[in-house]
Amino acid sequence: MNTFGRRLPGVVYGGDYNPEQWPREVWQEDVRLMRAAGVRLVSLGVFSWSVLEPADGRFDFAWLDEIMDLLWANGIHVNLATPNAAPPPWLATDFPETLSVDRQGVRHGIGSRGHLCPSSPVYRDRSRRIATALAERYGQHPGLAMWHIGNEYHSDCFCELCDDRFRTWLRQRYDTLDELNHRWGTAFWSQRYSDWSQVHLPKPVRGWVNPSRELDFSRFTSDLLLELVTQERDLLHGITPDVPATTNFFQCRLTDSHRWAKELDVVAFDCYPDPGKPDAMAVAAFQYDLMRSLGGGRPWMLMEQAAGAVSQWKNNQVKQTGRMRLGSYQAVAHGSDAVMFFQWRASRQGQEKFHSAMLPHGGENTRTWQEVKALGNELRTVDEVATARTAAQVAIVWDWQNWWAVEGCAHPDNAFDYRDTVARHHRALWNSQVAVDVVTLDGDLSPYRVLVIPNQYLMTSQQSAAVRKFVADGGHLVVSCFSGIVDEDDRIVEGGYPGALREVIGAHVQEFSPLPDGATVPVQGAGHSALDGFSATASRWQDDLVTETARPLATYRGGHLADRPAVVEHDLGLGRAVYIGTRLDDDALEELVRHVLDRADVLPVHEAPRGVEVTERRTETSTYLFLLNHRQDEVAVTLDRSGTDLITGRQLEAGETLFLDAADVAVVRSTSAAPRQAEPSSSDS
Ligand code: GLA
Ligand code: ZN
Repeated sequence: MNTFGRRLPGVVYGGDYNPEQWPREVWQEDVRLMRAAGVRLVSLGVFSWSVLEPADGRFDFAWLDEIMDLLWANGIHVNLATPNAAPPPWLATDFPETLSVDRQGVRHGIGSRGHLCPSSPVYRDRSRRIATALAERYGQHPGLAMWHIGNEYHSDCFCELCDDRFRTWLRQRYDTLDELNHRWGTAFWSQRYSDWSQVHLPKPVRGWVNPSRELDFSRFTSDLLLELVTQERDLLHGITPDVPATTNFFQCRLTDSHRWAKELDVVAFDCYPDPGKPDAMAVAAFQYDLMRSLGGGRPWMLMEQAAGAVSQWKNNQVKQTGRMRLGSYQAVAHGSDAVMFFQWRASRQGQEKFHSAMLPHGGENTRTWQEVKALGNELRTVDEVATARTAAQVAIVWDWQNWWAVEGCAHPDNAFDYRDTVARHHRALWNSQVAVDVVTLDGDLSPYRVLVIPNQYLMTSQQSAAVRKFVADGGHLVVSCFSGIVDEDDRIVEGGYPGALREVIGAHVQEFSPLPDGATVPVQGAGHSALDGFSATASRWQDDLVTETARPLATYRGGHLADRPAVVEHDLGLGRAVYIGTRLDDDALEELVRHVLDRADVLPVHEAPRGVEVTERRTETSTYLFLLNHRQDEVAVTLDRSGTDLITGRQLEAGETLFLDAADVAVVRSTSAAPRQAEPSSSDS
């Protein structure tokens, strides 16, 4: 039994199914082919509102009754959606206030999706009504496995209703206008409010925006959208207490998924790595680590991926032979108990008719179908990994609150990309083949030996205290520049940059000195330091760093900060902090990260050539080693354990060399032993 799907054992396989786009005879072929491909679960009704309720209050469930029964008669479970992501035309026409409004004040029209005002009482009422009707009608259906609430929540709105709600949200948060004025720093540019009626959400302004107001608007939007989810969840749980409810995340800027995940029975994620980008699989690994961590380590669901190309980018490249399979196992390797797709059958019309599907337009006689069918059947060999967990000794911080703040306006460097930055830091860990959790500084940091904090500009006093404690208690910290600069109100933490971390890093920054586009400065390991021989290239940013109790690890070898420290290390209590005052090139960042991992005695999950991803999942009795060959050539891995490759059934001995073709995978089951980690070293200085 896996942990989320009612009556769904093993690794779940399936995808979004949109039968309303097809005549009845196609349904028969669908279920036949679903069976052939080992489909166990379909997400149904995600965009079915206008078909289910063709006019206000007039419902037509006949087709859904039929398809629910047909699927169940074929042993296929349903992840039934509440259809609120795409309101029907009648709702927008009869109640224009249900349509979202953009920042410029333009009300969106119909003809796409997500055109909804999250504050609109009518939208909320009609969403609730159809969700209730679905729960009452299908709550006892034997095929119902779970609820899929809405879809990829992302509708922010700047209408009058939302403006009103924003004020209410602020009054609850700050109580008094004086407090709001203080939090938003309204003494600057004469913004002081003297009455609540003057307070609005951030519509276009003449010049630069107030960053504290923007930050609160982001928090508000995340909370507002989450309220829609929790209301539906409560409604569904009220009618079907045993049916788990989720919504599908994508790495969306608007929704603070650390908070959202706490409200869901299972974390689900839509992942579309771009096959045209060399780092796509490393980015996917980061996102998967995040999803596992969001659920506190519980298995999560890969709810959507593409079987081949998507249609949303300028140039949409295919997943070459074997790469869809590899990416699917990658999700499982990082804790997913599901491999699902958007979508089952390629649409013949509409916005996404060129988005790949499990069953392409060309039908069964296609490479994609053959690979989809083969994978669905092959996954049965790894069913037993479902519910197995991953333990990590390394954590990296990814924080939506910081995302909103660090990309704010009028910063020293305004080309900064938080997503890319965290992905780079994670990639250094990924290439080091260690297990990684993705956390915020608000959680429990005690399980970790190494903590990586990429550009955490926003840091609350509790968070900086947590970092200090982590290091003082013996942790190894890597923190990169422009961290610990402002508090939760985007107010500078005084006392010299980085105010929130000065004591932890044993140094301060006199001034930020960003580099122009394309400019680089050489960096070398400081003589007699642990990084003697280290050579790197700095770009984009330099801190004019002054050591206090820290030691330089590497220094600039050129530019106006020549011979000044670029990287420093600092002993604090039982631990050590490494601070990077610039943006190091990828190889150097990895070398530095490896140096810290070594110091902390964190070992790779398993020795393997570069480009082979290695993860483990464990149960009480078994350890599952995943080896994923992302390279274009065959690799050899000498096993450190004996076990069985679940996919091939082969018995493997410790010391034996396992050969993996390009894009191939092995999942080696061994009897559980203690996690492979070295003892903490006694001479750690
Ligand atoms: C998202 C949506 C799907 C589909 C896919 C593919 O993940 O949830 O409905 O649009 O993207 O583009
Ligand atoms: Zn609105």
